[in-house]
Amino acid sequence: MEHRDHPRVAGGDRDGRDFAKRHLVNPVLLRLLGDVRGRRVLDAGCGNGYFSRMLAQRGAHVVGVEPTDVMVTFARERETELGQGVAYVQADLARLPDLGDPFDAVVCSMVLMAIPDWRPAMRACVAALRPGGVFVFAVVHPAFERLLPTWREHGEYRVRRYLDEYEIDGPTGTDFHRPISAYLNELASLGCHLREFAEPGLDLAAVDPETPGHDGYVHLPNFLIVGAER
Ligand SMILES: C[S@@+](CC[C@H](N)C(=O)[O-])C[C@H]1O[C@@H](n2cnc3c(N)ncnc32)[C@H](O)[C@@H]1O
Repeated sequence: MEHRDHPRVAGGDRDGRDFAKRHLVNPVLLRLLGDVRGRRVLDAGCGNGYFSRMLAQRGAHVVGVEPTDVMVTFARERETELGQGVAYVQADLARLPDLGDPFDAVVCSMVLMAIPDWRPAMRACVAALRPGGVFVFAVVHPAFERLLPTWREHGEYRVRRYLDEYEIDGPTGTDFHRPISAYLNELASLGCHLREFAEPGLDLAAVDPETPGHDGYVHLPNFLIVGAER
């Protein structure tokens, strides 16, 4: 993901301007969450809070959870400016304080693949939901993690290690590769029902001709987005 305009708050672009989020991730997250008006929604690992703000704009009652000082500070500053009623809680998902009533929906976007010991975080997301509540998470697609640079170099995707678990160094920190089955089997073990497994591709018309390899997004999915129900 790119965070060129606001490197200080890397971990989420300032207001959803990031190309991949805007075209590939956010529309699917919003569709899977459905109508959030009047709904209590947890943004788990909210970063600088840009998606919390999008949800609040759509009428949700949002709680954002984020462990890092710099992100929470930025998110709270924006809340002071905008007065959307988003509550930001500084916490690790694996050690959540009491957040009050159960949530109608939990969204966890681009977070789980950034956590080495991710299972407690996913468990906390599901535990925060009311029965029948919706859990939506997005990760970098484990089969196509280095899509843009690989496509740029080879004009196709190449992968050597899929089944192992390993670290991936990226521009904004370390991510952790694990196969798709790890995420889906954990979800099943938590008693969730899969609603949709989305692998969004880019419309040809949206390809940026100035970005070499960008057409790779048309043919292969760089993100895996899952909608489930508790
Ligand atoms: C790539 S950013 C995504 C942020 C935001 N969800 C977005 O889409 O812009 C990953 C975020 O996960 C947060 N994070 C990492 N480990 C976490 C944990 N154990 N509990 C909660 N958040 C965590 C990081 O601080 C960071 O803000």
